[in-house]
Amino acid sequence: MMKNSPDLRVQLAPRHPRGLILANPVMIASGIAGYGVEYAEIADIQALGAVVCKGTTLKPREGNPQPRLVETAGGLLNSIGWENIGIDALIEEKAPIWASWQVPVIVNIAGETIDEYVAVTSKLEGVPGISGIELNISCPNVSSGGMEFGVDPQLAAQVTSEVKAATTLPVIVKLSPNVADIREIALAVEGAGADAISLINTLKGMVIDINKRKPCLGNTVGGLSGPAIKPVALHMVFEAVKVVHIPVIGCGGIACAEDALEFIMAGASAVQIGTACLTIPDSCVSISEGIERFLREKGINNITDIVGAAQDKS
Ligand SMILES: Cc1cc2nc3c(=O)[nH]c(=O)nc-3n(C[C@H](O)[C@H](O)[C@H](O)COP(=O)(O)O)c2cc1C
Repeated sequence: MMKNSPDLRVQLAPRHPRGLILANPVMIASGIAGYGVEYAEIADIQALGAVVCKGTTLKPREGNPQPRLVETAGGLLNSIGWENIGIDALIEEKAPIWASWQVPVIVNIAGETIDEYVAVTSKLEGVPGISGIELNISCPNVSSGGMEFGVDPQLAAQVTSEVKAATTLPVIVKLSPNVADIREIALAVEGAGADAISLINTLKGMVIDINKRKPCLGNTVGGLSGPAIKPVALHMVFEAVKVVHIPVIGCGGIACAEDALEFIMAGASAVQIGTACLTIPDSCVSISEGIERFLREKGINNITDIVGAAQDKS
């Protein structure tokens, strides 16, 4: 039996002068807990590795027409479409609260143009309470911007380098699974200066109501999340880890500690929990506890000892 608790700390921005150290590898994914403030009343947010807030744009946005959520076999289809309070309200109302938290908060940013991404980023410069930026170039539910940047290596690189030039915060780039080869995009954003990458965002999908003879979602198309996408996400993480030399954050269908450990063994330095927290709000806390229990039972001193343990050893 081990005497000491295993070391769960992870460094998500080793190349960045400030770094981004998490107390444990479990983060709440963007879009799941809003700005974390209400969520803090139902789950022990300070026990998490990090909180990623809702995708935020330059101006407030109302999002897509209802209905915006529909359940599918083993999954959830959403077409929220960037409903958010806008960057100014985030800075005025949310950041001061975050500044009093121990848990790092990462701001997920979105935009229709590269200029919008840069403008949002510039506004965050020097604001207390923010530990990093997650660049969402992978949202499938908006008509312009979002995923458009995440499926083209050149555009992905351009938005990454322009955002990097506009900030001193670590930048995580969130990739889309709706591509032919995830490695190409991962390499492009690494080359453009990304400090880390997170993957995956949701997979494009739809559902039809056969009685109404029309799509169930007000926006027709939505993003699929939840257990149904886990094997796809895991494989993409496994592939991305092979080619990049920056930390990879795994996301997609993680619902228990065992799922999270699979991503870590595929090479993810940390994981994000999304849909599972919509059904069981504190599942991210229990996932973190479960990872610690696993390490303790196996006599592993440091989480980093198992990162990539299932990668080919050639
Ligand atoms: C309701 C909902 C809203 C989301 N909003 C965002 C968002 O604003 N920005 C973003 O990058 N990802 C967003 N996502 C994607 C999640 O962060 C995550 O990448 C995806 O759901 C896969 O993880 P999961 O299967 O654990 O949910 C959202 C997902 C859901 C279900």
